[in-house]
Amino acid sequence: MMPTVLWFILAFQFVPRVVASRRCLLFLFFQELFLCDALNALKINLADPNNVLQSWDPTLVNPCTWFHVTCNNENSVTQCDDLGNANLSGQLVPQLGQLYNLQYLELYSNNINGKIPEELGNLTDLVSLDLYLNGLNGPIPVTLGKLQKLRFLRLNNNFLSGTIPMVLTNVSTLQVLDLSNNKLVGDIPVNGSFSLFTLLSFQNNSLNKPPPAPPPPLIPAQKRSSG
Ligand SMILES: *[C@@H]1O[C@H](CO)[C@@H](O)[C@H](O)[C@H]1NC(C)=O
Ligand SMILES: *[C@@H]1O[C@H](CO)[C@@H](O)[C@H](O)[C@H]1NC(C)=O
Ligand SMILES: *[C@@H]1O[C@H](CO)[C@@H](O)[C@H](O)[C@H]1NC(C)=O
Ligand SMILES: *[C@@H]1O[C@H](CO)[C@@H](O)[C@H](O)[C@H]1NC(C)=O
Ligand SMILES: *[C@@H]1O[C@H](CO)[C@@H](O)[C@H](O)[C@H]1NC(C)=O
Repeated sequence: MMPTVLWFILAFQFVPRVVASRRCLLFLFFQELFLCDALNALKINLADPNNVLQSWDPTLVNPCTWFHVTCNNENSVTQCDDLGNANLSGQLVPQLGQLYNLQYLELYSNNINGKIPEELGNLTDLVSLDLYLNGLNGPIPVTLGKLQKLRFLRLNNNFLSGTIPMVLTNVSTLQVLDLSNNKLVGDIPVNGSFSLFTLLSFQNNSLNKPPPAPPPPLIPAQKRSSG
């Protein structure tokens, strides 16, 4: 008896999720409605002279049908793509942190100003965060250290201030980092994921010069006794 009931519940939960067509979205989860809120909040806060966000109609329940939004086959938003070079201006909103399946946030080369919302640290599936060439100010949120899948972090050419959060050294997936052309201060982390990056990633800030790297040992050092 119990196993049958359990099976039924599982089937009910999983089948609509996997086979859901876009029309079925209303039967899905609350989270999807939050997605609409988040995207619409972004739209309201960004001036959009080229109308690239025009299809982000909050009255359409499924954001997956909106232009510039990519979803996975479970109708969760994974990508807000092609919003680079779109001449968007305004501020990023905390609600962006509710797009919890987002993998790519590409808003580079616009006129976005204000702070980077610390809520972006909730986007734990994020692979790429590209906010370079905007007018962002304020600190790099420490919460970005929670992004344990992040491979690309490009925040260069903004007006970001404060220190580089040490937690970013713990993002072991990080492959590409560019923080150049900002107003960052303090030390450049050199350990963890940051051991990959050269000074090019940090140039034109007010960061402390790292100590010179010791020269590579060309001649093997004195043999130590095996004691
Ligand atoms: C971007 O917007 C500015 C004014 O806000 C305008 O001067 C400029 O021509 C626009 N650029 C493009 C490529 O639309
Ligand atoms: C998102 O992040 C903010 C600040 O980092 C936090 O206060 C909030 O509780 C988080 N929300 C969720 C749903 O995890
Ligand atoms: C990095 O991760 C290690 C191990 O989880 C932890 O002990 C350390 O405090 C973290 N460092 C920072 C700066 O958060
Ligand atoms: C240095 O970065 C600032 C932005 O913080 C920018 O305005 C300036 O043009 C950059 N300087 C150079 C030489 O690239
Ligand atoms: C890098 O060093 C800092 C202290 O200097 C430490 O807090 C952090 O956890 C280290 N990161 C890794 C990945 O070991």
